[in-house]
Amino acid sequence: MGATHAACMAELGFEVLGLDVDQQKIDMLERGELPIHEPGLEEMLQRNLKSGRLRFTTSYEEAAKFGDVHFICVGTPQKKGEYAADVSYLDAVVESLAPHLDRECLVVGKSTVPVGTAERLADKLVRLAPAGMQVELAWNPEFLREGFAVKDTLQPDRIVLGVASERAEKVLRDVYTPLGDIPIVVTDFPTAELVKTAANAFLATKISFINAMAEVCEAAHADVKLLSLALSYDDRIGGRYLNPGLGFGGGCLPKDIRAFMARAGELGADQALTFLREVDAINMRRRARMVDLARGLVGESFANRTVAVLGAAFKPNSDDIRDSPALDVAVTIGQEGGMVTIYDPVALDNARRAHPGLGYATSALDAAQDADVVLLLTEWDEFVQLDPEALGSVVSTRNIVDGRNALDAETWRSAGWHYRALGRP
Ligand code: UGA
Repeated sequence: MGATHAACMAELGFEVLGLDVDQQKIDMLERGELPIHEPGLEEMLQRNLKSGRLRFTTSYEEAAKFGDVHFICVGTPQKKGEYAADVSYLDAVVESLAPHLDRECLVVGKSTVPVGTAERLADKLVRLAPAGMQVELAWNPEFLREGFAVKDTLQPDRIVLGVASERAEKVLRDVYTPLGDIPIVVTDFPTAELVKTAANAFLATKISFINAMAEVCEAAHADVKLLSLALSYDDRIGGRYLNPGLGFGGGCLPKDIRAFMARAGELGADQALTFLREVDAINMRRRARMVDLARGLVGESFANRTVAVLGAAFKPNSDDIRDSPALDVAVTIGQEGGMVTIYDPVALDNARRAHPGLGYATSALDAAQDADVVLLLTEWDEFVQLDPEALGSVVSTRNIVDGRNALDAETWRSAGWHYRALGRP
């Protein structure tokens, strides 16, 4: 998120200095290379490095001297063995930056945080900064999706400014003026923090809603893809985040709904969010259902069965494998004795590092060599466009489970495939 924000701010014409404590990351960025896969971002990074508007450093002292506005874009992962979010990276930034802040400036948090964090950090900032009250905090949550980070940053649906003063509001309005006519909602700190958490909770709920319908469709021999299509024509419902399948993963939705429940509990409002427990449970049941469908196609168990897994990233156009439903399914099948071979266009190296015990291939056809069943778990375009005949010529048996409802069932069935999908007959 930080590299995206830095490059986009430079693209808008600002002088930008990007800071990370990881020297290796900074070296890469200075060479114009991205540590992550994000379409369109590398070109933008290189363009702005060349123009001199964008530079990088590992020095807080340099950053403090340089900036009038400091954006904090660090992660807030789930704590090990708990639902709560780990906000220690945010505290570390404030503790490292503040002692160098000796003149008026604005520090702006963009991370997804438990409500109440901004208030606490604002106090800490003023306490640690030599410039005291001249240093101010604002909260400006980020809504970007991986894979669409540049577009979501330069053309956001809305901008939320959690501010404690008119001065902070003005600074941030000026920063975002080059974006043009974007709705801006000005709030206090807790509301700004909650908008972000509520947005992700809503998206997760919408996905789990359609996946709950998929469960009912499976029991009733109905077709959830058509159900979703029919619902989508109702403007009040809409079709986005209504794609039934393997459910949500990644570094945001799963941990954000859990952190939200944990924080609501601390605030004595846990009852309000007990439904998110169901949202989480429905989501996880899809993975188990996927494994069951695949097992059903190869016999009693996965022992001595060859399974091709198409997709390792948590979604297409990303190399992120954090809480990836695809890898979760692959790992489970491996544990049940299946011989799993995975292919993903960009997330292969990350997957191999995380799960060295599984098999990997460098193309879909290689992965499917002699497979007893093929599982489509991340709907990359190149998988959607696969030729059923070409794939059919390398597998042992023409069995496919479409975990993302991304393929045309008829095309595959007429090519002699035994086609199964989540939520469809
Ligand atoms: C999500 C939000 O969409 C962003 O608005 C937010 O800023 C971001 O989290 C964040 O908190 O930083 P992201 O995690 O990049 O963005 O991914 P999404 O595109 O929202 O997809 C999340 C998961 O839901 C993926 O695993 C995807 O496959 C799944 N999904 C999405 C479905 O299963 N069905 C759908 O209809 C849509």
